Amino acid sequence: MNASSIQAIILAAGKSTRFNTGRSKLLERLCGQEMILYTTKLFESLSLPTTVVLGYEAEAIKKIITDHHAQIVFAEQPEQKGTGHALACSQHTWMSDHILVINADMPLITKKIINELIEKHLTKNADVSFVTSHTENPSQFGYGRVIQQNGTLKIVEARDYQGTEIDDCCINAGIYMFKKTFLNNYLPQLGSHNAQNEFYLTDLIEKASAHQLTIETVAASFDHIRGVNTLKELWSAEQIKRAELISHWMDNGVRFFAAQAVHVDENVTIGQGSTISYGTHVINGTKIGINCHIEPFSIISNSTIGNNVTIYSHSVITDSTIEAHTKIGPFAHIRTHSTIKQSATVGNFVELKATTLGANSKAKHLAYLGDTTAGERVNIGAGTITSNHNGFSKQPTTIEDNAYIGSNNTLVAPLTIGKNSYTAAGSVITKQVPPEALAIARAYQVNKEGYARKLREKFAKEQQIKTNELKESEAVSFVAALKTHNDSTLSGNT
Ligand code: UD1
Ligand code: CA
Repeated sequence: MNASSIQAIILAAGKSTRFNTGRSKLLERLCGQEMILYTTKLFESLSLPTTVVLGYEAEAIKKIITDHHAQIVFAEQPEQKGTGHALACSQHTWMSDHILVINADMPLITKKIINELIEKHLTKNADVSFVTSHTENPSQFGYGRVIQQNGTLKIVEARDYQGTEIDDCCINAGIYMFKKTFLNNYLPQLGSHNAQNEFYLTDLIEKASAHQLTIETVAASFDHIRGVNTLKELWSAEQIKRAELISHWMDNGVRFFAAQAVHVDENVTIGQGSTISYGTHVINGTKIGINCHIEPFSIISNSTIGNNVTIYSHSVITDSTIEAHTKIGPFAHIRTHSTIKQSATVGNFVELKATTLGANSKAKHLAYLGDTTAGERVNIGAGTITSNHNGFSKQPTTIEDNAYIGSNNTLVAPLTIGKNSYTAAGSVITKQVPPEALAIARAYQVNKEGYARKLREKFAKEQQIKTNELKESEAVSFVAALKTHNDSTLSGNT
């Protein structure tokens, strides 16, 4: 095909009334990507110069597009008067001989369908070409019907359709290709005498047919051309997209347990031989290496996981790097640009924030490390935390290679704990610990010989006094209750 003769227009100005969220549906994400980007990226991959027509929530949609594309042109539809009017608003941007138009709410559309449409339109030298599909109940989902009657081909919108439901189940998909000359002639002729008082782009088909111009159609499977007008349709479309992604990774040797309950975004990668268990979300550009095992209910977002990593259940990893041969979780929380180096272990109920844990180091139970750099072969005892926030700012902690931090330490930052040092269990470490030293920072233990018996006698005596007092007060309330009962019996008899 001669791509330079074709230009794409994406209609994205609509109000998303049926979505009923108060926002443009084109900002909603499917498998992690905003709906609008599915069509813009498709046209970029086909090297088609593209204009996006914006109106409702124009600024927000424009920002998402410009964050991902350098080349796209924008046109404005100041008032939403229908798809025909939206296309007319882009007229000043038409530079090519053929104009390919698509609704922005079709995220499942494929390159293959677009290529077929272009191919047919050009080889048949058509004036108008469009994509059709079939569904059993077009009115329910608002599709226009493709109707051939008395030698005329036309599209009748769902709200203008007079026939019965079972008839005419060939539908208009919402993708068209026009000769520019055709549009220049006929677009200004569209009227708005219809159920919605809108200028329907679809009325162009009847105009072409009435003037015996060449019209071509390309049939596509309904799942690929589904429009997303409601939250329910978004849900259906996302399920299809997710199934496509999961089957792609299955083809690449990734095992999913209960795949129907796994969520993967469209921009993640998963290495061969890895397993992903149910309830797990792999999202936001995450890269998982080969032979990794991700147990149930883990959420991994914008993170890189090396090869041969095991992530036990219920772990949450965000914006972080987990190197090869590490073991994480269960119930670990690793966030804010943390790095877990090769063969390290992060165990249950351990939180790491903006922290590097060196190779072969271990933080196996109930710990919090924030703004910490721990070297190689460091041990972090159970219950240890870094006290990294003084109420105003965050302070760093450095733990050098081979340091052994005992259980239940509080490491008050800023702090450096030297190479090969020890800290005693239960210590509150506030000062630098030199290399090779043992730091003890806790109250000394005092043993009082024979004192346990004295204590027991004292406690027993106190308990006896309490029991006697209780018995006395129970006796008093029993006598009082008896008295009340007798009084009421007496009064009942008079
Ligand atoms: C449209 C078609 C229908 C087709 C269906 C396929 C028309 C009149 N109808 O119906 O035949 O079966 O798509 O999914 O075209 N938009 C604007 N400005 C407007 C109105 C809409 O830019 O004034 C944009 C929307 O943002 C959307 C696209 O055009 O991306 C389609 O509009 P929508 O309201 O979803 O059309 P449908 O009722 O689905
Ligand atoms: Ca639609």
